[in-house]
Amino acid sequence: MKFRTLSEALVEGKTVLLRTDFNVPIKDGKIQDDTRLRESLPTIRALMERGAKVVIVTHLGRPKGVTEELRLDLVAGALGVLLAKPVIKLNDCVGPEVKAAIAAMGAGDVVLLENVRFHPEEEANDPAFAKALAEGCDVYVNDAFGTIHRAHASTVGVAAVLPAYAGLLVAREVKVLSGILENPEKPVTLVAGGAKIDTKIGILEKFLDIADTFIIGGALANTFLAAQGHSVGSSLCEADKVEIAKKFLEAAKAQGKTVLLPVDAVVATDATVGLPFQEVSVDTVPADQKILDIGSKSVILFAEALAKSRTILWNGPMGLYENPVFEKGTRGVAEAIAGTFAVKVLGGGDSIDAVNHFGIAHEKFTHISTGGGAMLEFLEGKMLPGVQVLLVS
Ligand code: 3PG
Repeated sequence: MKFRTLSEALVEGKTVLLRTDFNVPIKDGKIQDDTRLRESLPTIRALMERGAKVVIVTHLGRPKGVTEELRLDLVAGALGVLLAKPVIKLNDCVGPEVKAAIAAMGAGDVVLLENVRFHPEEEANDPAFAKALAEGCDVYVNDAFGTIHRAHASTVGVAAVLPAYAGLLVAREVKVLSGILENPEKPVTLVAGGAKIDTKIGILEKFLDIADTFIIGGALANTFLAAQGHSVGSSLCEADKVEIAKKFLEAAKAQGKTVLLPVDAVVATDATVGLPFQEVSVDTVPADQKILDIGSKSVILFAEALAKSRTILWNGPMGLYENPVFEKGTRGVAEAIAGTFAVKVLGGGDSIDAVNHFGIAHEKFTHISTGGGAMLEFLEGKMLPGVQVLLVS
């Protein structure tokens, strides 16, 4: 996979339209995790140092039309602090006012356009909208790895209007993730958690050819436990997906792969703080109780397998880690991964949030992907639309 890269782009004195993924979690008027902002800094700084005028375009959330709480003022403020330079935030991403503001920029200035998804033409990849976004800009750089699986105007359409290049983050994400697909150090372990089988089955199946061991936790594991004939009480379990889980377990067995599921679990009638909870074997989950975390024996079992791995890919928590009663499984697995000498890659909003929640330094991991769905789809081996338009033809 060979990209047109930033180093080949003529950006000196030019106006660069930079697509970033600043879709960050915001609660009570505060950015909960600024990883995506920080990861965009090398590209922004490189452009500033080279005297480019940097016009940033991003989405936030999934608005249907203009939505006040999804405006980007907070993001512009946080980015300004990280860059130690004010970021000029505009109130739209196209139109005469945007054009005038861009024309008034000086070398090294940074402008943040308003949430591009306020315009439905963005997700429709409307060619006229892509042209309007590109107006006043000379070069397009895509550094929005988290959105690279979307064929939208700001990720695909503009590449037909302006000379298009991959940003430093996109190039690094693709390099690390391609390394796992093409030439991973063996043995490889895939750790999958979270809730839904549909979002994970693609990567589980793809990794039948790559991984030696699969560790499955979170509510996802309940469907696999059900496929093995366990009763999972009143746990979240996708009854209509049990067949898919069964097929995966059979395929893994036929290929001599190890699949580790929880052997015990922390259960309660629900996740309300203060309600009684207990640790039980997965063979004895009471009918009225829900599995809300993996148990301590499972943590040991998973940690032993992780210690033997040379490459670990982790996506999805082991339980309801936000609740202190049900955090031990995710904490144990996160610390076990962080403590190995393997190539360790993690991705997905919840896994990153969990790592931050437990105060585990990002440096403990080889790579923290800024992509959730994008990382999964890339690792499924799909050619992603935003990647395709940046490739050397
Ligand atoms: C993400 O958070 O995964 C990306 O920003 C993409 O967002 P989307 O799923 O709303 O397209």
